[in-house]
Amino acid sequence: MKAITVQAPGDASQLQITEVPDPVVGPGQVLVYVAATALNRADILQREGKYPPPPGVTEILGLEMAGTVIEIGEGVSGFEVGDNVCALLGGGGYAQLIAVSADMLLKLPERLSFTKAAAIPEAFITAFQALHKIAGLQKGETVLIHAGASGVGTAAIQLAKLAGAVPIVTASGIKHQPLQDLGAQRCIDYRSEDFAEAVLDETQGKGANVVLDFVGGSYLEKNFRALALDGRLVSLAALGGARVESISLAPLLRKRLQLTGTTLRSRSPEYKRQLVADFRTQIWPHFADRSVRPVVDSIYDWELVADAHRYMEANANIGKIVLTIGE
Ligand SMILES: NC(=O)c1ccc[n+]([C@@H]2O[C@H](COP(=O)([O-])OP(=O)(O)OC[C@H]3O[C@@H](n4cnc5c(N)ncnc54)[C@H](OP(=O)(O)O)[C@@H]3O)[C@@H](O)[C@H]2O)c1
Repeated sequence: MKAITVQAPGDASQLQITEVPDPVVGPGQVLVYVAATALNRADILQREGKYPPPPGVTEILGLEMAGTVIEIGEGVSGFEVGDNVCALLGGGGYAQLIAVSADMLLKLPERLSFTKAAAIPEAFITAFQALHKIAGLQKGETVLIHAGASGVGTAAIQLAKLAGAVPIVTASGIKHQPLQDLGAQRCIDYRSEDFAEAVLDETQGKGANVVLDFVGGSYLEKNFRALALDGRLVSLAALGGARVESISLAPLLRKRLQLTGTTLRSRSPEYKRQLVADFRTQIWPHFADRSVRPVVDSIYDWELVADAHRYMEANANIGKIVLTIGE
């Protein structure tokens, strides 16, 4: 088969379509002919050699894909050749074929295209895990979502709304209107506003019950300020740097804050199996009734993968960047 491979750690020009061995379907797996995959920020880090795949996972990039089942492995039930599916992957989505555990599959409802479906698994399951499994978001609570225009951010806004919570986001000003259309109650331009002050203003001084943070570094002190009593902070990335300079822990104690971090990719197969099963029952039906939807910013043919990576690196997207692969 053909796959996009990284010639040497470095910039986007290192991405090339090359011939690699076909994957072999193991017990409990299916073989999928991939129609589309989608970019994630982690792909850029992996391309640069800064985020190696977990042990036993292919070097091929791609944390999600949508396509058609073409072979069923031993012991798989509930799926047939010809089913259209999407799946969360540890890697390997930037390829024509993928062997994937049937536990990771989500069957596409009618009228959900491959390009839209490929944009769902990583962003939505990450947001689902952070909001529900880790933060325990409750109806009526307020959640501050940083990087609101990211793939994960656009998913989190919708899942927060679905849960009856109130999403507030930070994003570049130019990206605010679509985020309001998705359900963000307030959009804060972090470049010109103090987001902690804006959150306190929006919540009549109470603060946000939950913060999803992707920025790290300088945001920690302001996140502490923005959080309400018994607030929960989930750290998902450090786009602004991983180091924190001197900061007072007093708010952590005074407000009884909980500070957690997570990475989805490195979770055990058992954890992911349960997470996807819960997502399948609690969230997946809402894609069929269209109460939630993937936000697709742009679609590139996979021959143009380098341009797609450069576009993400320029922080130009609102939602997901999709690559089309098969017919
Ligand atoms: N921990 C996990 O399990 C997990 C899973 C999936 C993704 N993630 C992380 O979640 C983040 C979002 O991923 P994605 O693929 O959805 O990203 P994405 O679509 O590339 O969006 C990232 C957005 O973040 C904003 N941003 C970038 N650098 C920033 C900075 N220094 N300060 C403030 N905002 C900044 C930009 O929007 P503006 O124009 O608004 O600045 C940018 O468009 C990434 O950091 C990714 O690594 C974590």
